[in-house]
Amino acid sequence: MSAELVRRAWDVMGHAYAPYSRFRVGAAIEAADGRVFVGTNVESASYGLTVCAERMALGAAVAGGARDLRRVAVVTEADPPAAPCGACRQLLAEFGLDMEIVAAGPKSERRWTLRALLPDAFTRESLTR
Ligand code: THU
Repeated sequence: MSAELVRRAWDVMGHAYAPYSRFRVGAAIEAADGRVFVGTNVESASYGLTVCAERMALGAAVAGGARDLRRVAVVTEADPPAAPCGACRQLLAEFGLDMEIVAAGPKSERRWTLRALLPDAFTRESLTR
């Protein structure tokens, strides 16, 4: 159920480390085996080193041995809800374009497949020579 996944993302958003932008992001990824991996954005005084919540959650999933990923919830306080950035879309694409992305904010939700958010994706198939 995506309501539970969104709740997990809201919960972890409270741990976001965003002292520079003050823009807190929480992400929760559901694997095929039902496990959920979470992440928040982590900012740096060297601004460009900032890592997004989605990529932190993805790292947790991979470190946990989960690669069959079904759904990603991204939560912010933005209205309308903010979609994942391009870098996060690209890294998530490593694990399949069929995953569902749910962006949630205080008032509403938006949903896409990753394929819809990243048309004509550059993937491992693109590497043929
Ligand atoms: N951010 C994310 O965590 N995920 C995204 O998809 C877009 C942006 C973070 C990075 C930075 O800490 C803050 O939001 C403002 O860009």
